[in-house]
Amino acid sequence: TEYETILVDTRGRVGWITLNRPDALNALNTQVMRDVVAAASAFDADEGIGAIVLTGSERAFAAGADIKEMESKSGLDILMDDHFGGWATFAAVRTPVIAAVSGYALGGGCELAMMCDIILAADTAKFGQPEINLGVIPGMGGSQRLIRAVGYYKAADLVLTGRMMDAAEAERAGLVSRVVPAAELLDEAGRVADTIASKSLPSVYAAKAALDAAMETTLTEGLRFERHVFASLFDTADQKEGMSAFREKRAPDFQNR
Ligand code: HXC
Repeated sequence: TEYETILVDTRGRVGWITLNRPDALNALNTQVMRDVVAAASAFDADEGIGAIVLTGSERAFAAGADIKEMESKSGLDILMDDHFGGWATFAAVRTPVIAAVSGYALGGGCELAMMCDIILAADTAKFGQPEINLGVIPGMGGSQRLIRAVGYYKAADLVLTGRMMDAAEAERAGLVSRVVPAAELLDEAGRVADTIASKSLPSVYAAKAALDAAMETTLTEGLRFERHVFASLFDTADQKEGMSAFREKRAPDFQNR
């Protein structure tokens, strides 16, 4: 497939998506949304892929939704063409996605990182929801996912002031899974992705679904969901393989079945 705004690459069982609009600091326009959604959906449909890495450039993961594309739109335009709706498809992929963030992750860029399952940050990363500086507010999850990630008071500080936070603050706040030196970001993302992709895919899908449920539902419902999904994995060959490998003191050979 030909993509205009991203680079796509498969390394072993890991699918890589690199945002590639260097002149606009990877601002997320409609074409980027189409490309990322198409590439992620294709990886998601491929059983040979066990994890996805989404990254940008050294200077920017993504500096936000494309302000120049949005500027002249009316509210009705945004409502009727569901301007950002495609991102929901990206957020719903079953394969774990690792965001490898270097430089700016602002506005829609921060929101895109928060649609991923693990956020690895270079020590140069800067996160923020600066929409308030433009006379608007976050529109792709920044007022909702950010609160779930960092709590009300840190989220309100960011969303209301529009300030940026550095990688260390983002890690302390719980937005970032790990911070690594910038030069090691992609290698580390590859290692994390390889590790996940070495597991049994049915258990990985189940784990992501259970984690997602925790963000969405009550404790009682979430525990019920977890219990059912846990039980269902005992009907996989990989559960028998994983547990017999443990007993036999050898590495498991998973078949994704
Ligand atoms: C369109 C953008 C852009 C954006 C940067 N560029 N961010 N274009 N949309 N979000 C373009 C600039 O216009 C410029 O192009 C080029 O990228 C390089 O940016 P500079 O500003 O020259 O770089 P620098 O001085 O280093 O400043 C970097 C920056 C700044 C601090 C990240 O670019 C910035 O503040 N960007 C906007 C950040 C932002 O407000 N994001 C939130 C967007 S609203 P030219 O051709 O002019 O040189 C949003 C809504 C989400 O995301 C909700 C949607 C539903």
